[in-house]
Amino acid sequence: MMVRGAKLAGLGSYVPDRVLTNADLEKMVDTTDEWIVSHTGMKERHIAAPEQATSDLALMAAQRALDDAQLSAEDLDLVICATVTPDHMFPSTSSILQGRIGATRAGAFDLLIGCTGFLYALSVASGYVMAGLCNHVLVVAAETLSRIVNWEDRATCVLFGDGAGAAVVSPAKPGHGFLSFSLWSDGLNSHYLTLPAGGSRRPVSLQELEQKAHFLYMEGHEVFKLAVRGCPEVAEAAIKQAGLTNRDIDWAIMHQANKRIIDAAAKRLGLPESHVFCNVERYGNTSAASIPLALDDLYRAGELRNGQHLLLVAFGAGFSLAGSVLEWTK
Ligand code: ACO
Repeated sequence: MMVRGAKLAGLGSYVPDRVLTNADLEKMVDTTDEWIVSHTGMKERHIAAPEQATSDLALMAAQRALDDAQLSAEDLDLVICATVTPDHMFPSTSSILQGRIGATRAGAFDLLIGCTGFLYALSVASGYVMAGLCNHVLVVAAETLSRIVNWEDRATCVLFGDGAGAAVVSPAKPGHGFLSFSLWSDGLNSHYLTLPAGGSRRPVSLQELEQKAHFLYMEGHEVFKLAVRGCPEVAEAAIKQAGLTNRDIDWAIMHQANKRIIDAAAKRLGLPESHVFCNVERYGNTSAASIPLALDDLYRAGELRNGQHLLLVAFGAGFSLAGSVLEWTK
């Protein structure tokens, strides 16, 4: 028997000031605003300042989420940071964040999984809260993809942006808050999206740098196909696990990687356009940060009401997929 549930008690987000438009990209690589908009729906993205690292973005989002939850950092039991662009390989970005934010009682660890990271981290946080092991968990998804993108490769550099989103996960009445999590992995397709060098397989060397293997590598079309097929499937699984049907979904918030993928998944799920949130035109693909950035935009626009059912869907490196359904309660 479930003793207690877990809910989103606070949300916050942050994007760096600098905006990079499609017109700016036209001056950098052989691309056009028309191509980017028609293939992705993106118009602009935010890029971190040279002195800003991932934990700097995370800190801003985390403080906003704590303020929203009306909690202080000392109330936190755990800090989880989802990122594929950590400040360093170690120490963990969550440890740096925990220290800087003053979460003196909290443990901290990172989840390195890619664009599904926020949902994976929420599942862990909810599990701790529901089991009674923690009362308040800070989940932050923060990325500086601009640091690992090859700015000479038009096929990838136009797609990504920097940003951070954060959530405080706290106890809820049983049956409220998070209702389901579906976490899937398809590791045999992991080679389609990878950061080839910098790990134990291919340590950093002059040769790797010359081959530009320290930059993100993606076979976009293959990722596109996996995402269009996988997102509706993982979404259906999460909806079913929650004991609901597609018609019960008030808002679908999907990984903001490409408007065409979001539209195709929504169509397959039979979700009306008015129930599908999209802000990819303003931020580009911010990897793990994209869902909390979208969630926070929707929340601060006053669109979320108690009792509404939210569907969260993500796909990314791994190849990983994740779906979650929650009943909004504040
Ligand atoms: N400007 C102009 N032309 C371009 C650009 C560009 N920026 N990029 C690629 N092209 C060209 C290609 O060279 C190709 O030309 P060719 O036909 O002469 O060879 C043509 O456009 C079509 O290329 P495709 O890759 O087939 O285009 P597609 O319709 O698949 O769109 C895209 C590309 C947008 C990358 C799409 O495949 C996609 O969104 N894939 C999923 C990517 C994704 O979501 N990744 C993130 C997942 S995980 C994470 O978030 C980290």
